Amino acid sequence: MLAHRYWGARLPYISDYPAPFDPIKWSSPDGPHHFVPEEYPGYANTKYIDPCLKVTFADGTRDVILTYEDFSVTASPQPVLALHFKDSYYPLQLTLHYRIHEEYDLIERWVTLENLGDDPILVERAFSAKWTLPPGDNYSLTHLYGRHIDEFHIQREPLTPGLKVIESRRIIPSHRASPWFTVDRNASEEQGEVWFGTLAWSGNFKITAEVTEFASTRISIGVNDWDFAWKLMPHQILATPASISGYTKDGFGAASRIFHDYVRDEVIPHGKTPHKILYNSWEATLFDVDETSQSKLAVIAAQMGVELFVMDDGWFHNRNLDNAGLGDWFPDRVKFPNGLGGLIRSVNELGMDFGLWVEPEMVNPDSDLYRAHPDWVLHFPTRARTESRNQLILNMARMDVQNHIIESLDKLLSENNITFIKWDMNRGVSEPGWADAPADQREIWVRYVQGVYHVWGRLRQRHPNVIWQSCASGGGRADFGILEFADQIWTSDNTEATARLNIQEGYSQFLPANTMEAWVTDWDKDIVPLEFRFHVSMCGSLGVGGNLLEWGQSDRESAAKCISLYKEIRHIIQFGDQFRLISSQKNAYSAVQYVSKDKREGVLFAFRTHIPEPFNIPMVHLRGLDPEGMYSIEGVEQPRSGMAWMEAGLKVELKIYKAQCCKLRKFRNVPLRY
Ligand code: GLA
Repeated sequence: MLAHRYWGARLPYISDYPAPFDPIKWSSPDGPHHFVPEEYPGYANTKYIDPCLKVTFADGTRDVILTYEDFSVTASPQPVLALHFKDSYYPLQLTLHYRIHEEYDLIERWVTLENLGDDPILVERAFSAKWTLPPGDNYSLTHLYGRHIDEFHIQREPLTPGLKVIESRRIIPSHRASPWFTVDRNASEEQGEVWFGTLAWSGNFKITAEVTEFASTRISIGVNDWDFAWKLMPHQILATPASISGYTKDGFGAASRIFHDYVRDEVIPHGKTPHKILYNSWEATLFDVDETSQSKLAVIAAQMGVELFVMDDGWFHNRNLDNAGLGDWFPDRVKFPNGLGGLIRSVNELGMDFGLWVEPEMVNPDSDLYRAHPDWVLHFPTRARTESRNQLILNMARMDVQNHIIESLDKLLSENNITFIKWDMNRGVSEPGWADAPADQREIWVRYVQGVYHVWGRLRQRHPNVIWQSCASGGGRADFGILEFADQIWTSDNTEATARLNIQEGYSQFLPANTMEAWVTDWDKDIVPLEFRFHVSMCGSLGVGGNLLEWGQSDRESAAKCISLYKEIRHIIQFGDQFRLISSQKNAYSAVQYVSKDKREGVLFAFRTHIPEPFNIPMVHLRGLDPEGMYSIEGVEQPRSGMAWMEAGLKVELKIYKAQCCKLRKFRNVPLRY
């Protein structure tokens, strides 16, 4: 049995690592597995703990006994350890893979299962990893929950004996939960032990946090086994998605920054490229787009300093409302009689790039595609097809569907000068049927996501310079898996700035600011001033989405100023370290800071939403500065040492619904004298 030994701070000598527990003999109801934390338990004998693996062999045997065979190590690009196991009787091989990302102090784990025999094996659960905490049951779990237009609430709660489950059953991770967790013992934003992890997967996932009756705490993570089965055919291999985890002593903030660096450097395709400031026409024109309406917006956007003009929904065949058109990815002949070329040229002549919205996985029943291929959607033949937003979901597991999407989007991208695509996905699944599936229909949960990755990957290969944005009615598909294809996430359909502060704080728990697309729009514009709205959006990848035709001259001028300020500081926000100084989910006065990697530059944002007077503004303690550096802060007369800004802090006085953005600059080193 492969026993887990230790997860925590790195120890100097191999001999420092604790030995596995000796199985204590308890009374008969609990076998040895309840005392010795097994690294990757398969369901068998008296193991009642939550297993990672559950299979049924062809003869009906429904457990798996794993025996260790051998290991191998491959060295590059990062070292990977593979531990090989076989079932003691049946021809099933299991390999546990461990990739070490030393630079980020992260471990990536996944599993492969291989059928070495001649009969199929039904895999009913195959998690990616079990992460075992040091002995004890006094831990807290933090996870994210939410709903449409209200994503990424941070929930921290004590773990108690039993099983806590966080999951998605919607074929995307969904707004409801994120495939991410932390476990801590009395940690805060800045200090304390935090064990954290995620699953690089854009479909149904499951996280189980188990505290056993013998005070052992474990987190399992993987593809959700709900309604899942995979018929592993003779000589076939099934690989799980990867789970990536880490440990820090420096609190939740450090855990987030480790993931931010990892995503920027190792996951997203263009992690070193600053994102352009975009304008998106959705909230201004909804479906009512044509060359004239878009060109008018484009002229104003360009004058304000926008660099990329994105036309959202409504541009394609027969798309006037949300009840028709999805699936027919060619320009509507009434709105664009000469194609998209004219609009794209005028956008380019204004000095901007051009981007477009698509929703490739969907069809409206009222579309040429659906009329031609009604069998291409997920459905149970004997049941009505539940529509949501008047649309059905294409079965992305089918190769003919995949090829059709690749060819139609490839045509669009080849014929037009498009540098940005917002890939949307606007409904959760229903009737997840696949009547003519080659094996078990319940493979759909994995094959669908693999199909999305395949299509997206092919298009990325053919158009490597295009920047893609992942949207699922806002932040419904925000995970490390999709970020291998998309450089950005559309964070939320809620663009009201005070709500966004909270959504952005939750998002930042595991995803970096450069992936977080944030538009300034007209939501609550009579309450929340334009500058406040800009400052909120400047905390991520800035975009504008208001109806510019209704913006007066002074609004356009203020916008131009904010945009030009953002251009000066975006390298710090998009590529620096982020420090959540005062939580907006907990306070109506909040602050967030970004510091360049060399600690020479920084930006501080402070926000006050509605707090009635009188109100005592809290001290803001900066973070991440060089203690021995002398820093000036814009708007504050006296430069002080980094140490002073961090220890003594400063007050940023703000009236209700006011925000402040201050640049920090280190201008010399000072030896600390006391
Ligand atoms: C979804 C997206 C929005 C917009 C609309 C278009 O709701 O999240 O940003 O693109 O679809 O229909």
